[in-house]
Amino acid sequence: MIIVVGSINLDLIANVDRLPGPGETVRGSGFATAPGGKGANQALAAARAGAKVRMVGAVGKDNFAAEALALLRDGKVDLSGITETFASTGTALILVGADGENVIAVVPGANDSVVPGDLAKALLGKDDVVLLQLEIPLPTVDAALDAARAAGAVTVLNTAPFRAEAAAFLGKADYVVANETEFDLYGEALSLNGRGRPARMRDYAGKTGRAIVVTLGGEGVLAATPNDFLTVPALRITPVDTVGAGDTFCGYFAAGLSLGLSLDKALARAAAAGSLACLKPGAQPAIPLAKDVDAALQKSAG
Ligand code: RIB
Repeated sequence: MIIVVGSINLDLIANVDRLPGPGETVRGSGFATAPGGKGANQALAAARAGAKVRMVGAVGKDNFAAEALALLRDGKVDLSGITETFASTGTALILVGADGENVIAVVPGANDSVVPGDLAKALLGKDDVVLLQLEIPLPTVDAALDAARAAGAVTVLNTAPFRAEAAAFLGKADYVVANETEFDLYGEALSLNGRGRPARMRDYAGKTGRAIVVTLGGEGVLAATPNDFLTVPALRITPVDTVGAGDTFCGYFAAGLSLGLSLDKALARAAAAGSLACLKPGAQPAIPLAKDVDAALQKSAG
């Protein structure tokens, strides 16, 4: 089973021709709400990839909560680990430009109430994969890495959004998934050695004895383990909205590990899923189904 300990948001999304600069007002061309939050997005992606998933997190006692959880419910994600708190359901204010790029401001609300004590609801076992991000309090993420290790579970830590203090516990995760910017920033904090990113990734894997995966958007994915270095391409697509693409990658990647795929196959399936997630608007509504990901992978191989 995959256990996601993470954030749940309602996304408030405006489409604009181009993203505004500081102090600038631009006219929007569309508005929508959709379930989001990096934790919830990754949980749904893992479920759509074919894994059994339990989510541990928190929402408010407000009108946003039901909509924020709706697609997780439809996707048969086990929601028994979700707490209702007096804080508001987390929200993300998202602007998406015509080129598919975005800017996001997250108001954590109830996500800040996910505490280490909630990990009892994770019901961790040795065959589980625990999937974490950095949109809940960092002591909870750190405690989840320890609890997973004690239970003999595998851990995947997505370093989004960047939070410098997380450098202290990255090395506890079996697999770290970072985008280029996050990896470069953590690389400085951890004083990684080497000219160029691949060399610094090898240095990280050698020093920690763990794996590091760096996502490069349209350029695909790099991964370093203590004994290996892998390069995986993305699908060739024209993005309409990249929100949630990284989350789709992480959910599919964790599902691949949980379903027993080799590292290169788990990465290839996750990279293809992340590419397909850029073809539709919104985070959760755009997460592709496993059959579409597998068909796209087959097509790209042939
Ligand atoms: O990664 C995309 C997500 O980041 C959005 O769904 C939003 O809720 C923010 O958490």
